[in-house]
Amino acid sequence: MTELTDATGPAEPVAFPQDRTCPYHPPTGYDPLRDGRALSRVTLYDGREAWLVTAYAAARALLADPRLSSDRRLPGFPSPTPRFEAARYRKVALLGEDDPEHQRQRRMMIPAFTVKRATALRPTIQRTVDGLLDAMIAQGPPAELVSAFALPVPSMVICGLLGVPYADHEFFEEQSRRLLRGPTADDTEAARERLEDYLGGLVDAKAKEPEPGDGILDEIVHQRLRTGELERSDAVSLAVILLVAGHETTANMISLGTYTLLRHPGRLAELRADPGLLPATVEELLRMLSIAEGLQRVAVEDIEIAGTTIRAGEGVLFATSVINRDTAQYDDPDALDLHRPALHHLAFGFGIHQCLGQNLARAELEIALGSLVTRLPGLRLAAPADAIPFKPGDTIQGMLELPVTW
Ligand code: HEM
Repeated sequence: MTELTDATGPAEPVAFPQDRTCPYHPPTGYDPLRDGRALSRVTLYDGREAWLVTAYAAARALLADPRLSSDRRLPGFPSPTPRFEAARYRKVALLGEDDPEHQRQRRMMIPAFTVKRATALRPTIQRTVDGLLDAMIAQGPPAELVSAFALPVPSMVICGLLGVPYADHEFFEEQSRRLLRGPTADDTEAARERLEDYLGGLVDAKAKEPEPGDGILDEIVHQRLRTGELERSDAVSLAVILLVAGHETTANMISLGTYTLLRHPGRLAELRADPGLLPATVEELLRMLSIAEGLQRVAVEDIEIAGTTIRAGEGVLFATSVINRDTAQYDDPDALDLHRPALHHLAFGFGIHQCLGQNLARAELEIALGSLVTRLPGLRLAAPADAIPFKPGDTIQGMLELPVTW
C-alpha cells in the first residue's frame, strides 16, 4: 500500500470532466494534477467547485469511507453534466443508495453475479462471440466493429441473463445511448422514461406468469417483488441499471480494448503467441483505459485526508484514469504491460459500490478479445488511427466507431 501524499492542489482549479486527446490516455488537461497530489479543486460545467481525487491510496481510502454518500439528492452532490443534474432527484437503486438500504439491495443481487455464475455463462458467451465472428467473416472485410461485434456481444449476453428479449435491442440500445450521452437533459429524461416504461411492462408481464422464467428479472419479480421485499419502482430501477450498465460498459471496453491492442502491435503479437496472457491483458486494459471516469460522492461529515479537510456538503469526484496511473502504485503507468503484477486497479471502483458485474465483464472481455485476435490474425484498422472518432469526456469512454479489416 502506498503512502498518502500531502499535496492538495494547483492554484487554479481545472475543468472537470475534459475530453481525452488520445482515447486510451487520460485527458492531457489533467496533466497538472498528475504530480503526486492526492486531491485538487476542480470546476464543474455550472461553475461550482468540487474535489477531484487523483491518487490511488487516497481513492481507496475515500471510496471505502462511509462519510462519503452516493445519495445524489443531497445538497452539494457534484453533477458532472446538465443531464445528470436533471435526473438527480430520481431514486436510483444500488448506485444511488447508501447502506443500509444499499446493502439490502446488493445482497439480493449478489447470487446472480458470483464468479461461479460468470464461469457457468462462459459457454453461452463463447457461442455468442463465435456466431458474431462467423457472420463478420462470412460477410468479409471491412467491418465496423462497434455495431458488428463490440455492442452485440454484451447486449446479447445481458438480455439472456436478465430475461429481456434481444429482439428489442435496437430500442434499448438507442435509449441507453441517449441516457448516457443524449444531446440535452430533456432528451436524456425522455429516454429514461421510455426505458422505465419498457422494463416496467416487462416486470408486470413476468409478475403475471405462474412460474418464473430463468432470467434475473424473473428472479427479482418472483422472489423479491411478489414477497414485498422490493417495491415495483425499485425493481424497475434495478432493471434499468442492470440493462444499461450490463451492455454499454463492456461494449466500450471491447471497442477501445481492440483499438488499444491494434495501436500496440508488439503487445498484440505477445498475446497471440501466448494466449495464457489473456486474463492479465484484460486487467491491464481495464486499468489503462479506465472507461468509467468521474465516480461521484458527497461528504456527509468533515473528512481529513492527505493534509486536507473535505467539508461536509462538498462534492468529491474520482478521476479513475489518473488514479490508475499513480506512479506511487504503478511503475511506468502509461505503458501497456501484459506482465504487470495485478495491483488492484480501480476501474471497477472500490468499496461498497464496487462493480457488481465485474466477474461477468471479465468473462466477456476475455472471450471477446481472445476470440477476435485469434480468429482474425490479420486484424487491423481500416482508417487512419487518429481519424477514428471516440466518445467525449462526459460519459463512459469508448470508440464511437471502429472500422477494421483483416
Ligand atoms: C468493463 C465493464 C464495466 C466497468 C468498467 C464497470 C465499472 C463500474 C464502476 C466503476 C462501478 C462503481 C460506480 C461507483 O462507485 O459509483 C460500477 C458499478 C456497478 N456496475 Fe459495473 N462496470 C462494468 C460492467 C458491468 C456489467 C457487465 C454489469 C452487469 C450488469 C455492471 C453492473 C454494475 C452495477 C449494478 C453497479 C452498481 C453496484 C452498486 O452500487 O453496488 N457493470 N461498475
